[in-house]
Amino acid sequence: MTNDVVNKTRRRVLTGATTVVGAIGAVGAAVPFVGSWNPSAKAKAAGAPVQVNISKIEPGAMITVEWRGKPVYIVRRSEQAIANLDKTDELVSDPNSENPQQPAYAQNHTRSIKPEVLVLLGLCTHLGCAPMFRPEVGAQDLGGDKWQGGFFCPCHGSKFDLAGRVYKGVPAPVNLEVPPHKYDNDNLLTIGVDQEA
Ligand code: FES
Repeated sequence: MTNDVVNKTRRRVLTGATTVVGAIGAVGAAVPFVGSWNPSAKAKAAGAPVQVNISKIEPGAMITVEWRGKPVYIVRRSEQAIANLDKTDELVSDPNSENPQQPAYAQNHTRSIKPEVLVLLGLCTHLGCAPMFRPEVGAQDLGGDKWQGGFFCPCHGSKFDLAGRVYKGVPAPVNLEVPPHKYDNDNLLTIGVDQEA
């Protein structure tokens, strides 16, 4: 081997060695991060309550948060939307929420603690797809005059009103579920803990 070839080979070995050290360094640095991330991931999986600030949700809008790995829909209903629930009473199969799909404190006409704030699990009660939020009153593709806003499941066409009550004649058998929740103050809502009686 000429000196030149020897030097190049030696350089390649040194470069390789540096890369290996670099990789070990990166793994070493990543461990504390993973260590600090895991407890919260475990807590979430175990069902730790989730606190949500709802102050920025405009009337007519919805946000989605995650609780126990499931989507939770939070909708701020307008006064008109609350009044429109009267119009869907005769179109839904369980208008008085007699099936146990909600805690006792949400077994009322709006299926909520505060009439303007609806909290639902975003899982269709047919086979668990995520229903789409369709708040537009009179949407032609959802029944025109009969549609007062609500949720539409794209998987097999189930429809729910703006209280999560299931329409008659669709595959979903019962209303969308209301998860346990409580208010810590006007703006802070905790999902996963029951409101005290
Ligand atoms: S999963 Fe929603 S209609 Fe089937």
